[in-house]
Amino acid sequence: MPTRFILDCDTGSDDAIAIFAAAAHPELEAIAITTVNGNVALEHVTDNTLRALDHVGAEVPVYRGAARPFARPDLPIPRDVLNEGSDFQSARLDFPDAVSTAETERSAAAFLVDAYMDDANADVTLVATGPLTNVALALAAEPRLAERIPRLVIMGGAHANGNVTAAAEFNFWVDPEAAEAVLAAGIRDVVIVTLDATHSAPLSLADCDEFDEIGTPAAAGAAKLIRHRIRHDQAAVEGEGEAASPVHDPLCLAYLVRPEAITEQVKAFVSVETTGGRTLGELVVDTRPWCPEPPNATVALRASAAVYRDFLRTAFLAGR
Ligand code: RIB
Ligand code: CA
Repeated sequence: MPTRFILDCDTGSDDAIAIFAAAAHPELEAIAITTVNGNVALEHVTDNTLRALDHVGAEVPVYRGAARPFARPDLPIPRDVLNEGSDFQSARLDFPDAVSTAETERSAAAFLVDAYMDDANADVTLVATGPLTNVALALAAEPRLAERIPRLVIMGGAHANGNVTAAAEFNFWVDPEAAEAVLAAGIRDVVIVTLDATHSAPLSLADCDEFDEIGTPAAAGAAKLIRHRIRHDQAAVEGEGEAASPVHDPLCLAYLVRPEAITEQVKAFVSVETTGGRTLGELVVDTRPWCPEPPNATVALRASAAVYRDFLRTAFLAGR
């Protein structure tokens, strides 16, 4: 039986690669995708999500989510200011216009409430690869969701340095109040795939060559996006003689079918800074043996690049 999940994302190039892998991998079944303001504005996130799905011929219902953070009118620094002078994030991914359309009768948060209040979805993991706004809105509307979501896998946070600031990773920084509300909600199985993990397993130009050789739309699409990341990502590195870049979001999906993709993790009490001048959005991981709070999350700190690559290869070879 494939692992069923809902993807809550802010597509975004690495989210798009996660969509390609999700659509192609034989052991994964995305039952729905919900979109959220993040890498780009919500209208572009939703459009990019539909383009990514159409590129691989996948039919997955898409629900539009929040256009602004949970408690703030906008990102802590407006996106235009934040991205000024950078070619890393373009509003529209370079794939043909979408033919498919998003659902219109329910918002993402309303869909999440309905989905998890339905006993038929008791096995469905929630994978969140963007700011946690939709998840926080759904929990605020229906607090029983905290007991109904069996597992939440999040790409977000950093134990060492962040990427937007020294302290904060992008997804948690965009909506720190949402991240804090979700982590404090009491969901029983929360896994946080941090920057520490994603940066430990970057993908390289050689991986792109291999994906191009595989040649399926998912593989070729991923290769194109990863090459762009390697060219434009401040986090790109020269590793083992060739350039590579962290590709954050699909690592959450690799973890679903290949848990050994995460090679170092710690169970701890975690929270998110919502007021700090220099530390807004920081994931605070309390590893003190005398921490008064019980652990509320598993924090992934390192990953295996070999397992990650193998997961993507399996997905891309499987078709689409
Ligand atoms: O910090 C990395 C995360 O921020 C990824 O999810 C990326 O897509 C951006 O949303
Ligand atoms: Ca993302």
